[in-house]
Amino acid sequence: MSQEIVPSPVRWGILGTGRIARIFCSTLKALPQAQIYAVGSRSQETAERFGQEYHAEACYGSYEQLVLDPQVELVYVASPIGSHYQHVKLCLNAGKHVLCEKALTQSSAEAKELYDLAQEKQLFLMEAMWTKCQPAFLKVMEWKRNGSLGVIQGVEARFYTQATREHRLMKNRLQGGSLYDLTIYPLTYACALLGYEPKEVHALAAIDGDQVDVMESIQLLYENGSFASLTGGLACERQVSLYVHGTKGRILLESEHFFKAQRVTLTDWNNQPVETFDGTFQIDGYEYEALEAMSCVRAGRTQSALVPMEETIQVIRLMEACQAQWSHIAPCR
Ligand SMILES: NC(=O)c1ccc[n+]([C@@H]2O[C@H](COP(=O)([O-])OP(=O)(O)OC[C@H]3O[C@@H](n4cnc5c(N)ncnc54)[C@H](OP(=O)(O)O)[C@@H]3O)[C@@H](O)[C@H]2O)c1
Repeated sequence: MSQEIVPSPVRWGILGTGRIARIFCSTLKALPQAQIYAVGSRSQETAERFGQEYHAEACYGSYEQLVLDPQVELVYVASPIGSHYQHVKLCLNAGKHVLCEKALTQSSAEAKELYDLAQEKQLFLMEAMWTKCQPAFLKVMEWKRNGSLGVIQGVEARFYTQATREHRLMKNRLQGGSLYDLTIYPLTYACALLGYEPKEVHALAAIDGDQVDVMESIQLLYENGSFASLTGGLACERQVSLYVHGTKGRILLESEHFFKAQRVTLTDWNNQPVETFDGTFQIDGYEYEALEAMSCVRAGRTQSALVPMEETIQVIRLMEACQAQWSHIAPCR
């Protein structure tokens, strides 16, 4: 009788113990393919508290100690965006594979440097753009590829939420702002549908007194006349929606947040359903990026086909292009 070889669970190291690290570790706990092996925090006490909660074997009071542990295979970087470059580099230089929260870095030059370093060391590197690994997003991509949408002429997407003054997103020193945290979702979705190299990028933003972009509007125009109209912001009641307009089909996601939608319907021009897809999450939606990262690591791949580095870098380039157009905007308060 042949015996199935079950690969050993991937030993994760968790870098940073904030809000998303907690959510992600709750997901990892439910995956038999994963072991939350170690946690690293800037404080030993925090690492131990977190480690106890998620049953980590090793708890470190510095990120340097975390990456030096030879048992750690794959590090989940869950620090603020402005620290990602430094922390991912630390991991790669210590020979660790990395799944890093979005946005990967603040600049495309930094992202390219990390990508080159991962290639040189033959290590896995992926931005944790969880949407791109989820079943409903992959179904929309299939509708794009198989022509069910026809020519996609327009994408409209918005992601507004209300952040308190105390939130890291409202603080310049923590690299806050809407673009790299929220509007990155509409931008990523639009690029996945229309392409990563628009002919024109136009952007406006309201910048607050702490030099944080609290609202922005981005227009992308493509060679074939397709366009995207995207908005995001931190100073509004929560509103998240996506509308995709193709010559053959349409998608409207309003009741579910498009970046974590589970059910999606393709309709015709009379708004009659053509196909409905139900991609109910196995857990909470973060399992797909975790499973993708672990299967790439086990297969010896250096990047994910679902979240390729070139696309990650190109989205950061577009965000840089937006920021470059904001310098003349007066503070909004
Ligand atoms: N995919 C998603 O759905 C999602 C959702 C929310 C956030 N995110 C992303 O996840 C990242 C972290 O967001 P978060 O909301 O979890 O932030 P958070 O709650 O502020 O946690 C960030 C953690 O990073 C560590 N850290 C390292 N250097 C720091 C510094 N200079 N200041 C403050 N904390 C520092 C801290 O852990 P220690 O004290 O243990 O060192 C802190 O708890 C961001 O890139 C964000 O865009 C993704």
